[in-house]
Amino acid sequence: MCRRIAAGNWKMNGVAADLGEVSAIADAAQDTTCEVVLCLPATLLPQAGARNLPKALKLGGQDCHVETNGAYTGDISAEMLAEVGAKYVIVGHSERRQFHGESDAQIAAKARAAWDAGLTAIICIGETEEQYRAGRTLEVLDRQIAGSLPQNATSENTVLAYEPIWAIGTGLTPSLAEVSAIHTHLRTRLPDETIAILYGGSVNAKNADKIMNLENVDGSLVGGASLTVAKFTPIIKALEATK
Ligand code: 13P
Repeated sequence: MCRRIAAGNWKMNGVAADLGEVSAIADAAQDTTCEVVLCLPATLLPQAGARNLPKALKLGGQDCHVETNGAYTGDISAEMLAEVGAKYVIVGHSERRQFHGESDAQIAAKARAAWDAGLTAIICIGETEEQYRAGRTLEVLDRQIAGSLPQNATSENTVLAYEPIWAIGTGLTPSLAEVSAIHTHLRTRLPDETIAILYGGSVNAKNADKIMNLENVDGSLVGGASLTVAKFTPIIKALEATK
């Protein structure tokens, strides 16, 4: 049995004025037995922690460095995230791979750094539109899994998120049949088959129930629709309904 997780990725969005949404999402999280996670900008983590939110909401970071400390201007370590209350950290998001040139090997090292700090690593993989159109999706995902998922990953320390890059923030998604086939394939590639596999890319209140109902989809990683309680709650409820 896999963990069931509704995770929000706020990306570079959110200032103190938005903490009311975090509190409201924490309240909504109390109505589900699924794990609800918000990966906030690092600046908001201590402020969210200071609110004594309901424990049903878990907090996460969006990236971490491979080292615990050192001369790495602008970076943040997994230990630092854990200290301010994070339980999860996203590693290898396509926006990090694309805009920061992160390699599979670096992402695997980040996942191990996350584990060392006691965090669950949400490891992201996904193909570009060009690779999708060329029918290379599974080949690309296999390569990313082989390179960025450490062999000793377990369902306790790791969550896999499949996010087709062309579906992120576009309103486009693969067909249900495609998501189902891809997730079923991914399951066979995991070192521990009980690792939760999340789908991400334009998940919203309208499509969440159908996607969350697919076999081998254990939850979602949500960008834009996780920014407000009004948009995120239906996605949490869609996952809860599939139990
Ligand atoms: P959207 O839900 O905004 O498409 O973003 C998905 C994503 O990148 C989550 O990590």
